[in-house]
Amino acid sequence: MNIQAILSDKISAAMQAAGAPEGSDALVRQSAKAQFGDYQANGVMGAAKKMGINPRQLAEQVVNHLDLEGIASKTEIAGPGFINIFLEPTWITTHVERALNDPHLGLSPVKPETIVIDYSAPNVAKQMHVGHLRSTIIGDAAARTQEYLGHKVIRANHVGDWGTQFGMLIAYLEKMQNENASDMALADLEEFYREAKQHYDADPAFAERARGYVVKLQSGDEYCRKMWRKLVDITMQQNQETYRRLNVTLTEDDVMGESLYNSMLPGIVADLKAKGLAVESEGATVVYLDEFKNKEGEPMGVIVQKKDGGFLYTTTDIACAKYRHEVLHADRSLYYIDSRQHQHLMQAWTIVRKAGYIPDSMSLEHHMFGMMLGKDGKPFKTRSGGTVRLSDLLDEAIERAQALIRTKNPDMPEDELNNVANVVGIGAVKYADLSKSRTTDYIFDWDNMLAFEGNTAPYMQYAYTRVASIFKKADVTQADLTSPVMLEDPREIALATRLMQFEETILQVARDGTPHVMCAYLYDLAGLFSSFYEHCPVLTADTEAQRQSRLKLALLTQRTLKTGLDTLGIDTVERM
Ligand code: ARG
Repeated sequence: MNIQAILSDKISAAMQAAGAPEGSDALVRQSAKAQFGDYQANGVMGAAKKMGINPRQLAEQVVNHLDLEGIASKTEIAGPGFINIFLEPTWITTHVERALNDPHLGLSPVKPETIVIDYSAPNVAKQMHVGHLRSTIIGDAAARTQEYLGHKVIRANHVGDWGTQFGMLIAYLEKMQNENASDMALADLEEFYREAKQHYDADPAFAERARGYVVKLQSGDEYCRKMWRKLVDITMQQNQETYRRLNVTLTEDDVMGESLYNSMLPGIVADLKAKGLAVESEGATVVYLDEFKNKEGEPMGVIVQKKDGGFLYTTTDIACAKYRHEVLHADRSLYYIDSRQHQHLMQAWTIVRKAGYIPDSMSLEHHMFGMMLGKDGKPFKTRSGGTVRLSDLLDEAIERAQALIRTKNPDMPEDELNNVANVVGIGAVKYADLSKSRTTDYIFDWDNMLAFEGNTAPYMQYAYTRVASIFKKADVTQADLTSPVMLEDPREIALATRLMQFEETILQVARDGTPHVMCAYLYDLAGLFSSFYEHCPVLTADTEAQRQSRLKLALLTQRTLKTGLDTLGIDTVERM
């Protein structure tokens, strides 16, 4: 159930009946304080201004036209013309019952869209590092969320699998193969890349060979293609292992690397020229954009083809957007890429729109994020100043979680301990990232992310085990709970109302790509459950009817927590 949407519809209708202009938004929000009711409509002031009348007067007329029979117990006008809505507990009760009887938690069906989600996107022959971690984690939560809602999700792993560096990588792979050392060399890709570069810089004959391979690879030479494939496959096998450890849903089939668009590039450049958008400039092909100014205040030139004929990252992203429309039929294309690439994307998309490659109805959205910083506020590095390898980071997370769980449960069998440590350690790294607003930089801090208090994975996972354990103790299944839900205590009402806000929360996350909104909701829900559990005895309730009603609330809380954590890609255990 989407309370916000229901109230919006009703209040907008009442506003129109009261003479407000067509399309006036009721601006219905959850109230920040209980004294203002459960929801607040803030749209009257704006409408009154347009109509040139007193907002309180309009608010009164709106309330007169407003029919919230059975939905609200009270409606109040406050301040300059806010309308405060107090929900009727019996209305909430009905919907709690519905949610309990629906495997999809009573969510209203969506109009299914095709949503392409561009995330992770590591580079070939390089280790995935912490910089790719945010994209992978946040993008995967977005994919899970949209899928849960019923959209068709296409995961697009825009791997960096093309460029002139492949000449030197092929030449080096060849050298290693000749020395029968290729397997060993490829085990550490970072090292492999460094060595290849060293040879390229130091050995002119090697460099010559490398440049030759670039040309051959681009013209489809079979040997070079084979060597290139090998580099791509080995990199992606290693990345796939990281995805598995991270419980990220990307598979080999989701790879749509830069090379996928190669064949489109010459046609795009020719078309941009034909449309008068691109011009020759000093041998290169350039699109001048009025929307972006260079340092001199002149239209910025975006190169789409270099003097030597090579194409650029921007050209590829132009083709990529076109492909997502023409081949994938996307309604939305979401890009989880760090904020430093914002200008790049905006330029590519401005060209895409000007050239008319996609319809206006298709959205291109940069769901950007900031950098991951160390505790010192500087880019996250190892103690010696190197880039942190993702696999080392995950090892450390699990080790730390293991120590933590062991102190809390000295008697836990080793097998179980390892599993819990894995779930908590990986969960902590992911949740720490997901729970912060993605647009800002974020500070990576082991102590904070592994704390059992606050908005952390261990807290949420523990809260889940507590709810789950009630059912073990009660030894009941849903079929045994035949009494209706009764909302009497204010904590029962507060918990039930919050449970009914799951839909508006997940819809907001899906619209804005902001998993921290889901984290904040779940954290709040866990807190409301705690105070409910403390004040409203469940297993020792006064009557059997009350016991069953409270068990139902606990059951829906458990499912909501589980579903919410699932959409974030955070695993749970039954005890910890
Ligand atoms: N591989 C790129 C990088 O590591 C990210 C690609 C993002 N996706 C895109 N469509 N440009 O920076």
